[in-house]
Amino acid sequence: MTSTRGLEGVVATQSSISSIIDDTLTYVGYNIDELADNASFEEVIYLLWHKRLPKMDELTELKQQLTANMSLPQEFLNHFKTYPIDKVHPMSALRSAVSLLGLYDDKSEDMSDEANYAKAINLQAKIATIVTAFARVRKGLEPVAPRADLGYAANFLYMLSGKEPEEIEIEAFDKALVLHADHELNASTFTARVCVATLSDMYSGVTSAIGALKGPLHGGANEQVMKMLSEIGSEENAEAYIQEKLANKEKIMGFGHRVYRQGDPRAKHLREMSKQLTKLRGEEKWYNMSIRVEAAFTAQKNLPPNVDFYSASVYHSLGIEHDLFTPIFAVSRVSGWIAHILEQYENNRLIRPRAEYTGPGMQKYIPIEDR
Ligand code: CMC
Repeated sequence: MTSTRGLEGVVATQSSISSIIDDTLTYVGYNIDELADNASFEEVIYLLWHKRLPKMDELTELKQQLTANMSLPQEFLNHFKTYPIDKVHPMSALRSAVSLLGLYDDKSEDMSDEANYAKAINLQAKIATIVTAFARVRKGLEPVAPRADLGYAANFLYMLSGKEPEEIEIEAFDKALVLHADHELNASTFTARVCVATLSDMYSGVTSAIGALKGPLHGGANEQVMKMLSEIGSEENAEAYIQEKLANKEKIMGFGHRVYRQGDPRAKHLREMSKQLTKLRGEEKWYNMSIRVEAAFTAQKNLPPNVDFYSASVYHSLGIEHDLFTPIFAVSRVSGWIAHILEQYENNRLIRPRAEYTGPGMQKYIPIEDR
């Protein structure tokens, strides 16, 4: 038995949700470029869960279900006040809160299709409220209730700031949600599938996935990119900073990918959004610095930027606090996790690979007094 480090190149399941073939990403056969330019996040949620695009009445119904389920009971929100709020990372708070959500759902153990669909709506709707409410409560502010007349992206921004977002902000945020929604068998999606393949419930699957997304080699990279840009501070410092990091054999966050070779197709959309939004805010330095980092890094290493690199300056330009970047990734990716969880349930088999043993050969047990 020989193992493959990091399961590189291993095809672990069949799926008809999203694919990466020759560096092209598709959701259910639709090119991500077309979806990013045309589809709303709610349309993409429907596409991932039903494996077809919605008709107008189906989309309207989904939007209504999401907004109708966004509110969190006060009893639930009170839990945030029991967290060590000034120390906790919002991603850890989110992981705990999603687990808690399962306790408040009396159908959480019901595995019928109806109950699982209701859980899907509940999770997708309330994850936006959890992230935004936590972000406010930790600053001593009251959570803002969702509004029935706003779509998903607009509601998120509204619940976060308490102000009606501008159209350009809604469009940019919606597009970012579309771009992050699903990504074949990435680490967090695989985690979710492994968890529910034991026939565990959807809340457990999503909680596990949040834990995997949190790491800096996966979703946590977007926050690290912003940390790096802040450390660089100005455009002129970019080259020297990258040279030094590479000389110290450190990884540069937001670059490289296990699957893509020529480049991540999502990055070009985020690069363009970063250019527009930083200009709009009069903060072009973040975009200019990112361009200089990309040039300096790719001159040394043949590793193009991934989805996390330009999303950092996009979210910063939307006025979002840096430690909320990864929770926002989860707000989008939960749509993909749910699609994969439902697909796993449909044709389930326990996921249980083997390990190549590298420990000592057979040993004789020695009583403790003789060791
Ligand atoms: N900076 C510097 N060197 C890198 C980087 C990087 N960002 N990425 C890969 N390398 C080098 C690495 O040092 C190694 O070199 P060597 O062969 O000389 O030891 C080689 O490239 C292969 O790297 P690896 O880590 O074995 O590759 P992987 O396929 O296991 O990892 C990755 C993929 C995304 C974890 C990695 O490229 C990385 O750590 N990138 C930075 C973190 C990041 O941006 N993560 C977000 C990934 S995309 C969105 C998501 O899924 O969340």
